[in-house]
Amino acid sequence: MTAIEATGLRYAYPDGTLAVDGVDVTIDRGERVALLGPNGAGKSTLLELLGGLVEPDGGRVRYFGETTDADTVRSRLSVLTQNPADYLFNPTVREDLAYGPAQLDCGRAEVDRRVERVADRLDLHGLLSKPPFRLSGGEQRRAALASALTVEPDVLLLDEPVSNVDAANRATVLDLLDDLAAEGVTLVVSTPDTELVPHVADRVLLLDATGTVTARGAARDVLTDTDLLRDCDLRPPQVVRLFEGRTADVPLTVSEAAGRLDAGRPDTVE
Ligand SMILES: Nc1ncnc2c1ncn2[C@@H]1O[C@H](COP(=O)(O)OP(=O)(O)OP(=O)(O)O)[C@@H](O)[C@H]1O
Ligand SMILES: [Mg+2]
Repeated sequence: MTAIEATGLRYAYPDGTLAVDGVDVTIDRGERVALLGPNGAGKSTLLELLGGLVEPDGGRVRYFGETTDADTVRSRLSVLTQNPADYLFNPTVREDLAYGPAQLDCGRAEVDRRVERVADRLDLHGLLSKPPFRLSGGEQRRAALASALTVEPDVLLLDEPVSNVDAANRATVLDLLDDLAAEGVTLVVSTPDTELVPHVADRVLLLDATGTVTARGAARDVLTDTDLLRDCDLRPPQVVRLFEGRTADVPLTVSEAAGRLDAGRPDTVE
């Protein structure tokens, strides 16, 4: 079953910049997909189009095979834009986290349960009573992500969810995204960072500088195609560069590489 099906998406900003130019994408329920591309490729614009925050100039987006009206599926779809300030406008972080479910008329007890649950999962209890504008950049990113999660969506579209986030909190966020995927939540993550992709996606849409999808496929195939990545001004993951040409089965992450080494590999390519 499809979560999001977009055809012929096109979007130009008022100054004439064509940010997304003829993109077709189908995302199935429960998939983990990365929108990967260099700065300015149109990832954020595409994510906002897919999330129904922006109307396309051409093409259309269909949700759950049911409707093209994003407003009717707001409770099932949550979008985290690149700017945390879009989500942080209440006197306290707690109220920001409560805002989404309160809009959905969840009831006070249910709203409180969701805020506590997400704060537990993202280790945010120490920040709940603070005004959001007093948070650091990385804290704001985590608080904004938390506010997208309290909606408890079926589909989560995240624009650079761990940029500015330190290593320990990054691991917490990535563990949480793993848990959500295991629970069946559909994940779409935009990033210019090839290192992040294996942690958040099984499939990649690769955007080039012209706002078009230049390649798509399994994360492993895209991330090990180093010429393709370099053509898009992206650097392949470090372990891919390290193992490329040295083993038949190139690892994508440090832990995969460690597994290969522990198993007495890499096998030398003949
Ligand atoms: N409000 C705007 N007005 C005019 N042009 C814009 C506006 N926002 C973005 N653009 C342009 O649209 C193109 C796509 O921008 P977008 O933010 O979608 O890229 P991105 O892939 O998300 O980049 P990044 O990796 O830097 O976040 C870029 O050329 C950018 O300069
Ligand atoms: Mg962006």
